[in-house]
Amino acid sequence: MRQMIIAGNWKMNKTITEAKVLVSELKEELNGAEAEVVFCPSTLVVSSVKEELKGTDIKIGAQNMYFEESGAFTGETSPLMLKDLGVNYVILGHSERRNIFGESNELINKKVVKAFETEITPILCVGESLEVRKSGKEVSFVSEQIEKCLVEVKDEQVKNMVIAYEPIWAIGTGETATSEQAEDMCKEIRNLIEKLYNTDTASTVRIQYGGSVKPANAKEILSMPNIDGALVGGAALKKDFIDIVKAI
Ligand code: PGA
Repeated sequence: MRQMIIAGNWKMNKTITEAKVLVSELKEELNGAEAEVVFCPSTLVVSSVKEELKGTDIKIGAQNMYFEESGAFTGETSPLMLKDLGVNYVILGHSERRNIFGESNELINKKVVKAFETEITPILCVGESLEVRKSGKEVSFVSEQIEKCLVEVKDEQVKNMVIAYEPIWAIGTGETATSEQAEDMCKEIRNLIEKLYNTDTASTVRIQYGGSVKPANAKEILSMPNIDGALVGGAALKKDFIDIVKAI
């Protein structure tokens, strides 16, 4: 039985002061939820949020990291620094990282491998653009992303990771994939994991949907058999996040 996981990707929002207010609005209601709940604030805000979450079972995730531990990599964040902060998860390969900052599948693969080595659980994001979906090639596109990002990742590691399917055309646009579209792709991803690894790994790995998840559509999306949670952007910055977690 896979435990649902709802992660809030705060992106580049919330100063420390604002983050403390948000955490105080959310934490009582979310502590002890049936789903695993993860807050992913900006790296600069992680330690303050962690402090505010003391005594709750809410986990902390980062939004990115580099694959080297230290050295001359100006502006990057070391996995060891994240580990030291007590981070449980790290979002890797988000479409904004891929499209705005030019991250390739090869780079993301190095980060995924390093995350496991550091014992931080990766939330690997994949998803197609509107152009790819219109051409009907979304399954092969997403499959290629997964295969390339999982090079040298072992089945025991895949069992523990999270894959987030986020169609780019549904991120921050208010346009959600239908629950059938989301379920179809998450099922394809699970089948691919079975092909690349084995049945046990495929039935254990958790697959989230992300892209304009809100209280109004959460229940339907989260009731799909191959969807094990959500990666939430805009709605994670307000009390709506409570309703999404409680939609399960
Ligand atoms: P959104 O973002 O919920 O605002 O569409 C999701 C994401 O980018 O993870």
